[in-house]
Amino acid sequence: MSFPVGLPSNLKSDYNQFPVDRLLDNSVTDFDLFAGIGNHFILYSGQGYKWMRSELTGLLNQGYKNLWIRPEDFAKAVIYEKMAKLPQLDKTLRPEDRLNKILDIGATFTRYLYEGDITASSVHKAEELATHLVACIQEDQGCVRGITGLAQHDMYTYLHSVRVAAYATAIAHQMGITDTESLKTIAMGGIFHDVGKSSVPMAIINKSGPLLEGEWLTMKNHPVEGHKKMADSCLHHVSREIVLHHHERLNGSGYPDALQQNSLLPEVQMATLADVFDALTSSRSYQNKRNRFEALDFIKHRLLRTDISVEAFKALVACLVK
Ligand SMILES: [Fe+2]
Ligand SMILES: [Fe+2]
Repeated sequence: MSFPVGLPSNLKSDYNQFPVDRLLDNSVTDFDLFAGIGNHFILYSGQGYKWMRSELTGLLNQGYKNLWIRPEDFAKAVIYEKMAKLPQLDKTLRPEDRLNKILDIGATFTRYLYEGDITASSVHKAEELATHLVACIQEDQGCVRGITGLAQHDMYTYLHSVRVAAYATAIAHQMGITDTESLKTIAMGGIFHDVGKSSVPMAIINKSGPLLEGEWLTMKNHPVEGHKKMADSCLHHVSREIVLHHHERLNGSGYPDALQQNSLLPEVQMATLADVFDALTSSRSYQNKRNRFEALDFIKHRLLRTDISVEAFKALVACLVK
């Protein structure tokens, strides 16, 4: 498609410019982009359009420094830009270092998730992170030993999700789920498992000391909120189950549905263990942190069989203890 060079100056609209140099090679825009031609905007690329470097270079060479977006798409464009700015992963790093880099990028990604809506751009970025994470585990399942569970207080919430994804994926791999697509559904479930907390005020999330009853009810609603947020995202049903049921317990004492073990997918049970383990080994406002071995010991003596699956626990031990 070819356009005359330059934008007409007499375009009058509430459309906003979107600089072409902010579009990334191999990225997908989940909003319409228009070219300004004469006194009109002409649709250049519809939602779901995939950009290639050659086309972007061609547009710039023709003088098209900007395309245009409609006001109702501003929010999506902001999220696209945030996701596009996240650092690219150096795939030459050894798995342990690569995993820690994924955790870093994942923490920023999760902060962005908490700041805005879930869009196709954010799901696409999560898939990219999940793909990298699965590759690390497939290369060296023991790379999760390099995860440091501790985190600065204010970063815990953001680092937690990708760490849960890493532990859950490693547990699954150890339990014999080795194909990439199945592992990705578990990693995606981990990445999004607490996304419902973005509806919970940070004052409650970071509160030191026990929560009041009303605060606790708000907090307990995060799996349902997260599941609702992901409703239009095309997330695999296993990933959705992880979002909705990661706080269920084998004996039916969990929430939101008080499900028992026979109603819980094995993948959910893996994610639940990953979630508990990361909470125990991380610095949090309302509990003392434990080292890896103290956390495993606590789970073994206090939570196994009642709350946590024995098989998943054995797999986590195998991943962490050599
Ligand atoms: Fe949660
Ligand atoms: Fe969690």
